[in-house]
Amino acid sequence: MDNSRTLLLVGVSTRALAASVCRSGYRGPLLTLDFFADTDHPLRCRRLALGRDVPGPLTTGVLLRAAIALEPGAVMFSGGMENHPRLLARLQERSRVIGNSAGSVDALGNLDTFLRFLGCHELPYPRTWVLPEPGRPIPVAAVRLARQGRLLWKPRHGGGGVRIRDVCPERGWIGALPRRGYLQEKIRGVSGSVSFVADSHRYRVLGYSQALHDPVVLKIPGHAYGGSLLGPPEEWLSTRARRTLERAAGAATQAFDLRGLNGIDFVLDRGVPRILEINPRFTASMELIEEASGQSLFALHRAACERGRLPGEDVTGLGCKGFSRGSHRQRWRGKGIVYALERTIAGPPGQLQKVGARDVPGSGTLLRQSWPVCTVYATGATAAKCREALKQCGCAVRQLSGFQSRIRSAS
Ligand SMILES: Nc1ncnc2c1ncn2[C@@H]1O[C@H](COP(=O)(O)OP(=O)(O)O)[C@@H](O)[C@H]1O
Ligand SMILES: [Mg+2]
Repeated sequence: MDNSRTLLLVGVSTRALAASVCRSGYRGPLLTLDFFADTDHPLRCRRLALGRDVPGPLTTGVLLRAAIALEPGAVMFSGGMENHPRLLARLQERSRVIGNSAGSVDALGNLDTFLRFLGCHELPYPRTWVLPEPGRPIPVAAVRLARQGRLLWKPRHGGGGVRIRDVCPERGWIGALPRRGYLQEKIRGVSGSVSFVADSHRYRVLGYSQALHDPVVLKIPGHAYGGSLLGPPEEWLSTRARRTLERAAGAATQAFDLRGLNGIDFVLDRGVPRILEINPRFTASMELIEEASGQSLFALHRAACERGRLPGEDVTGLGCKGFSRGSHRQRWRGKGIVYALERTIAGPPGQLQKVGARDVPGSGTLLRQSWPVCTVYATGATAAKCREALKQCGCAVRQLSGFQSRIRSAS
């Protein structure tokens, strides 16, 4: 098939990005390739699922290889692809990549380079230790934190928080930890993300969102990404904290030659944002910014990448100058991922769509335990109310009769 005029969107899940492309008014041929090929992609886009339409195991590397083989005229990548800078380099030799270069992605993904960057710019981050060679002692400070339940093991190339583990001295301790990772102090605070668009020199903040992590109430497995909440930034971030994050966005834009959409993940440590990572691509929380502002983030991305054009300051109305849009009850808006508690088979999509869910799988799709089933949406006057409303939506999904009986029969 000739894809030379096609725009391909590739990532673990592409539904929200496809919606953004359509919102921008883009009229050319559009193709998506991801793990799910959910039923609610915009009608005019052709969608391919890895493992169903394209052979291969569900890994991000296989996904990106499949994208290269499609030889699209243009391509935009989203979540998961940043872990494969070498494949991105091959992709950009064959197709026009709208977004960050493989070189930028590679540099950002190198832990030593990234920590050096943070240190040089005096940007705060949690205490971090690269794992020593087997047999060498673990730093005393890390051991102390582990004993207090305040140490994490993180993979060098992660994604969606799914492989992050609490280090527990009782459970075989450090010898059992995979080497291709690092240890980091676990900060007990709200985590979040700042989204921005850049033109390799300058940047514009698009919005600040909180990340949802709640294994008890929302039944999110471990440290997995559970969704996001978007609301007035001044309600949870001080001016100083926002300045630090803006400084990080500006410094990273220049140091890593960032273009288009990017997100910085952080965790608040008594009000100080400690930086965790930079995602050099469209992120999951950007969908909320798009809906709250009515702006197509793909349009902003493309203008920045292709014409070096940035929007005016506070283009979304969601940045530092306050939160202008929506009624009082919609001041906060959120999305929450509903994870499968057991291995299950998806019921008819209409049921999930009726309760306002998105990223809805096709009927009969096998959903493994701890895999996302769908995404639910809610609004609220406060972050707490929005969270509560998301929880209710999550419960409503789990109680769908067809869905539940299928859970039992599939195990
Ligand atoms: N040092 C930390 N302290 C507390 N929470 C953390 C820390 N590192 C990661 N997390 C939690 O795990 C989530 C994912 O971490 P992140 O570093 O962004 O990795 P990933 O690449 O998997 O998204 C964060 O949003 C945060 O909630
Ligand atoms: Mg992250």
